[in-house]
Amino acid sequence: MKTSKDTDFPTVIPNWINGREQASLSGRTFSKMAPAAGDLLCEVSRSDREDINLAVEAARDSQPAWGGMGALRRGMILFKIARAMEDHTEQLAGIVAEETGRSPKEAVGEVGAAIQCAMFYASEGQRFYGRTTTSGMEHRSAMTLRQPIGVAGLIIAANTPIANLAWKVFPALVCGNSVVLKAAEDTPCSAWYFGRFAKEAGIPDGVLNIVQGFGPEAGQPLVEHPNVGVVSFTGSTEVGRTIAGITAARLAKVSLELGGKNALVVADDCNLDAAVKWTLLSAFSNAGQRCAAASRIIVMRGVYGLFKTRLLEAVGKLKVGIREDCDFGAVINERQLNKMIEGIRNAVDAGASLLAGGGRITGDERASGFYMQPTVLEGVTADSDYCRNELFGPITALFEVSGFEEAIDLVNDSPYGLTACLHSGSLNRCQEFIRRTEVGVVSINAGTHGSEPHMPFGGRKQSGNGTREPSTEALDIYSNLKDVYTLHDPGMV
Ligand code: NAI
Ligand code: MG
Repeated sequence: MKTSKDTDFPTVIPNWINGREQASLSGRTFSKMAPAAGDLLCEVSRSDREDINLAVEAARDSQPAWGGMGALRRGMILFKIARAMEDHTEQLAGIVAEETGRSPKEAVGEVGAAIQCAMFYASEGQRFYGRTTTSGMEHRSAMTLRQPIGVAGLIIAANTPIANLAWKVFPALVCGNSVVLKAAEDTPCSAWYFGRFAKEAGIPDGVLNIVQGFGPEAGQPLVEHPNVGVVSFTGSTEVGRTIAGITAARLAKVSLELGGKNALVVADDCNLDAAVKWTLLSAFSNAGQRCAAASRIIVMRGVYGLFKTRLLEAVGKLKVGIREDCDFGAVINERQLNKMIEGIRNAVDAGASLLAGGGRITGDERASGFYMQPTVLEGVTADSDYCRNELFGPITALFEVSGFEEAIDLVNDSPYGLTACLHSGSLNRCQEFIRRTEVGVVSINAGTHGSEPHMPFGGRKQSGNGTREPSTEALDIYSNLKDVYTLHDPGMV
């Protein structure tokens, strides 16, 4: 790999199993391309069920000692991992930038968010609260304890690889579970590199296993494995539904953070400059590869024309590339890029008009990379494919509505319910928006994105199964609660 000199990358990214770097048992590999350059970045171990079996076995064997260690001591080890991430921010960000095709500056931001999440869960080891409460019976006490579930099977998407990893690995570990993480096939490198920090920080062998490979080959066997007690997944709604079916059949606990088709509403009483600025960030940051990206911009009639003009002007000035001053970089792979272009073409065939972008960036050195033009559509309908399916790229659409009621109806007329945002100067509108939107996250006068690690993120409808990660709520996903009743007899003291 071409990144940071002092990380000396292996020629084939291996798995971490039982504290050791191991090639897939079959010896097979797959090629990982660099999205910004469009050339080969590295080869990666192509794992399958046999590798998963090994990893789960290692996880299972190591879990009792890890779970018995106590949350506070586990938290101390997690602090060491967090500090190692901090000390190696530049290298880690360099790896994230290279494997995602993003600017190093953007990647530094993501690493910072991952460290914040790590710190939060490390310190949860010092709290790790249960509940003490009253009892209906005299001289009886009642309380709850948190206990580990066992082996946690974690599967993540590639869009923000190290943040996605931190959101799951740290809460799972602080709760005393051992972990088998299936890294996203598009972002194998940061997960492998993270394995090093964990090893150096003193995570016992087998407690954190990181397996590389494709979803159906390596991810699904992890979900199916009878010794995996809890599955946590971040990815598409389609795969989430498959995983839910498998975990339902074997009655395993599952947390699903899935897709979104998020709406940002521009009311006729808002600060238009702010609305334009936040629309750009919500729709295009990270090349729109965010579950919380705003792909539906709903604008009230009174300001529609003006907002559209200003937005298109600003979109025309966006810089795409990996330089410091760029607004967003490449998309994750060529297949996704083509899927985006196809989605736009379908929307246009169905009657939408293209106001900006629509295709791949060619004509300069970016032609070899996977770069997508910032794209704005107009005239798509609520029941169109565009509104029912995620494109997961720098693509958004404008909708004109007659007023507040129609805006709310359109926000909620969606199979998804992840995030929504309103730009308005009216307290009454803001409060009604907060109350009536069928989503898990609402923002006012800001962007659809920007979730913080101490807040419980998640969505409604097809955006998930109702669980919330991260924050303290995630501790409930990764713990078994045990009720404890103690009866004593004052007459016997
Ligand atoms: P994807 O669902 O195709 O892949 C995600 C992960 O699942 C990958 O690691 C993949 O290898 C694995 N996988 C695929 N098939 C599997 C199977 N049958 N069994 C087990 N694992 C399998 O998602 P994609 O397209 O790579 O990522 C984008 C999606 O992720 C979008 O829908 C986006 O909204 C969602 N996402 C959701 C977030 C949230 O917190 N709600 C955050 C980030 C992304
Ligand atoms: Mg996919």
